[in-house]
Amino acid sequence: MKKEKAELLKKIHGGQTCMLVATAARLGIFDILAKEGMTAETLSVQLDIERDPLERILKALVALYLLEVKEKNTFIPTSQGRLLTDGHEETLKAIAIYKGSPIVWEPLGKLFEALKKKKAPFTLHFETELFDYLSQHPEDMEIFQNAMDCYTWQSSSALLHAYDFTPFSCVLDIGGGRGTFLKKMRSLFPHIHGTTFDMPTTLSHVHDGIQCISGSFFDEIPGGFDAYLLRNILHDWSDEKCIKILSTIRNALADDTPLLIIETLVDEDGAKRLGRFADITMFTMTPGGRERSLKEFTTLLHEAGFSIASVVKTSGSKALIDARISRSS
Ligand SMILES: C[S@@+](CC[C@H](N)C(=O)[O-])C[C@H]1O[C@@H](n2cnc3c(N)ncnc32)[C@H](O)[C@@H]1O
Repeated sequence: MKKEKAELLKKIHGGQTCMLVATAARLGIFDILAKEGMTAETLSVQLDIERDPLERILKALVALYLLEVKEKNTFIPTSQGRLLTDGHEETLKAIAIYKGSPIVWEPLGKLFEALKKKKAPFTLHFETELFDYLSQHPEDMEIFQNAMDCYTWQSSSALLHAYDFTPFSCVLDIGGGRGTFLKKMRSLFPHIHGTTFDMPTTLSHVHDGIQCISGSFFDEIPGGFDAYLLRNILHDWSDEKCIKILSTIRNALADDTPLLIIETLVDEDGAKRLGRFADITMFTMTPGGRERSLKEFTTLLHEAGFSIASVVKTSGSKALIDARISRSS
């Protein structure tokens, strides 16, 4: 019972941990202390904040095993804390900042009210939809896209090793953001020309070597590519909107051109944990978005005139569905 209670309390206090980590990451505490261990006093001068609350935060970060105290009361990051620094090749800093930012935090705080009012928390709180809001708020867009890049950078390797992209020479990543997945793809398949297709506001910082085309996947998708990617897009939308996106794509595709859908696949009964928290994120942030099972994707794709040629599951959280226009449609 003691252990059970301790575990439950950890869950109850989870929000506080999230905010603490996000705030420390946003202040750059891990970056500064990774370069040089410091006392709370010295760090408070550098950050221009009061010593007492800072010291209490640093001690809480020690309790979370993100910092440790060395001689003369200097704080330095642990190896886990170093994962919250900018230069680390496996950094999660942008995700930590995003998860503690008002665009995530404020709607999450409205979960109870949203359930009662039968609305998506984000829409209830901001009175608009996520991508419309982001296109009007460049600072939040920056936080969002940095986090998407970080997720993509950290989670793409397993998939890029599990599926052979060699046959393609030009690939369009639909809703591909700044082209982070394409950049990672080109590090393994340098012969591929990558183009990201996204909203104009997202395309202000596209990676070098990646082409971009602006537009909306509800209106028109450019034709002529060997393969089309749709990574973490369908989970943002209701079934109805997904069918609209898939229909627009279908109009652009030549027969037998692969549409490669990369998403987390949840299990039917929810027994496995995979994707369950991501599914709540989708509920919180989007009107109608959800993580789906393979069965749900099969139905959705069938309704939009596609059939599944193959499914590649990886050691990571993502699976790839190779969909083709149904011959019968
Ligand atoms: C969840 S992010 C996924 C980004 C990227 N594919 C990845 O896996 O990291 C969703 C992307 O869809 C883009 N998007 C949203 N609405 C769009 C629209 N109507 N047309 C094109 N792109 C859109 C957003 O700007 C964002 O880059």
